[in-house]
Formats: sequence, C-alpha cells, structure tokens
Amino acid sequence: MLSIEEVSKTFFAGTVNERRALVDVDLVLEQGDVVTVIGSNGAGKSTVLNTVAGRLVQDAGAVRVDGREVSRLPEHRRAAQVGRVFQDPMAGTAPHLTIEENLALADRAGASARAGSWGDEGASGAVR
Ligand SMILES: Nc1ncnc2c1ncn2[C@@H]1O[C@H](COP(=O)(O)OP(=O)(O)OP(=O)(O)O)[C@@H](O)[C@H]1O
Ligand SMILES: [Mg+2]
Repeated sequence: MLSIEEVSKTFFAGTVNERRALVDVDLVLEQGDVVTVIGSNGAGKSTVLNTVAGRLVQDAGAVRVDGREVSRLPEHRRAAQVGRVFQDPMAGTAPHLTIEENLALADRAGASARAGSWGDEGASGAVR
C-alpha cells in the first residue's frame, strides 16, 4: 500500500520565486490499484512522483509504503519498493551498460525487497 498524507512542498520558499507545488496532498493506493494523475502544466504531478520516489523531500506530511514511513529514505534506498518509468528513456537507463544489461537490471528490480531483506535498516540510511 502507498500512502501520501498531507504532503506539502514549496520551492524557493520565502522568495519572490516561491512556488507552492503541493499543499496537503492526500492519496492512498491499495495493492493492484491503477491511478492516473492528471493536471495542467505545473500542477504538481511530477513533484508528487518525485516525492514518492525520494528525488524530493516534502516540507510536511508523510509518505508510507506498506505502512512504513519512507520520507527520510534516499531515492536509492526506496528503489527496491518504488519503481518508475521516465518519460525520457535516458533518465531511466544506465548508458554505460548494454541493452541486455539494462534489461537484466530491470528484471532484478525489487528482488531483494520481495525476498524480505529491505526492512532492517530503518530510516537511518541517509537524510537529505
Ligand atoms: N526543482 C524545482 N525547482 C523549482 N520549482 C520547481 C521545481 N520542480 C517543480 N517546480 C515548480 O513546482 C510546480 C509544480 O511543477 P511540476 O513539475 O510538479 O508540475 P507538473 O504537473 O509535473 O507539470 P508538467 O505537466 O509541465 O510536467 C511548478 O510551479 C514548477 O515550476
Ligand atoms: Mg511533470
């Protein structure tokens, strides 16, 4: 289950360029749910996804995966349970690897999480 609870994110807070991208966003997805997020340019769609993936850290609120708070885990630590496909294929592949090696990486994605080995390190891995 993915749970986004009252997540807010403001870029350049307190400056003339302040952008309130997310304000108290709530979303709960159960296993097997398929959801489309729609919105105009700049509505905050990418910011939501980046917050779930760990690319960005929200200012307030929480992101939970299977009930576990992951907000303070860096992107590479969430990757076992949170995957995504980028619009730009160059952003989601390793250019120094072959196509076969890239596919092998994708095939292994989440394997350690499925084996149950990700849960022991807590949220102490890194803080951004
Ligand atoms: N890294 C950033 N630094 C500063 N402002 C940002 C950053 N990322 C997003 N924003 C701002 O946050 C708001 C939400 O942007 P976001 O990219 O999440 O929108 P979007 O819904 O994905 O838009 P699009 O349809 O164009 O992809 C916008 O005002 C944008 O300018
Ligand atoms: Mg976007």
